[in-house]
Amino acid sequence: MKVHVLQDLEAVSIFAANMFVDFSEHYIAAKGRFVVAVSGGSTPARLYALLGSDRYADKIDWRFVYFFWADERFVPHDHHNSNFRLLHENLLSKIQIPHENIHPVSTNESSPHISAEKYEDEIKSFFHLSNGELPEFDLILLGIGEDGHTASIFPGNAVLEEKEHLIAAVESKTHMHPRITLTLPVINNARNVIFLASGKNKASVVKKVLEEKDPYLPAVMVNPSRGKMFFLIDRDAGMYLGKGPK
Ligand code: 6PG
Repeated sequence: MKVHVLQDLEAVSIFAANMFVDFSEHYIAAKGRFVVAVSGGSTPARLYALLGSDRYADKIDWRFVYFFWADERFVPHDHHNSNFRLLHENLLSKIQIPHENIHPVSTNESSPHISAEKYEDEIKSFFHLSNGELPEFDLILLGIGEDGHTASIFPGNAVLEEKEHLIAAVESKTHMHPRITLTLPVINNARNVIFLASGKNKASVVKKVLEEKDPYLPAVMVNPSRGKMFFLIDRDAGMYLGKGPK
């Protein structure tokens, strides 16, 4: 695991954008494609905007980049809380990427469970998985909630125990809408995981995750068995690291 503490969110976003470019070049050269699962929330918005900007968009061969979602809220894709909308508004609407390379969670189903089932089928088909096989994303971009959740895997939630399914529906009273999420076995099968965290409000959870390794926290349960993990945090989010217990 590599931890990079950078000046601020802009520096974190630039560092992440450079990693994205490097990974895309590597995997497209090695395998002919670069398959990514992205998160929502506020932290990655600047990264997505950078990737769609003149500064980065032409450095990536979007013809061979494939987007999936690490999690999604069970809302229409034009809803202000949609993770699809977040990526579309900041990046997908700015680049020439084949429509078939974009794999959003279908949220106009009759229930989050149906959405989850359909997404699982779509992932199995894309990766040509036989039963019991896990997909291997080249990169999964994750955030960390103040409660230690990541994707839509919340502390104490039954989804933590999900070992069979690739995708789960999460009905969470405290977290706005029902969610659809990658499960931990899928996340831990990724070639690369990048966590992004920014701001003083994440300092406590970053310390719990990186130093105390609080086993109750879903973000601590992310540990790719054969992959690499990177934490890109800004100084505010890292301000308790290396100091006494908080
Ligand atoms: C989501 C995200 C979620 C997010 C964390 C951090 O759908 O909300 O996938 O896991 O990464 O809640 O969110 P912020 O970046 O807004 O702090």
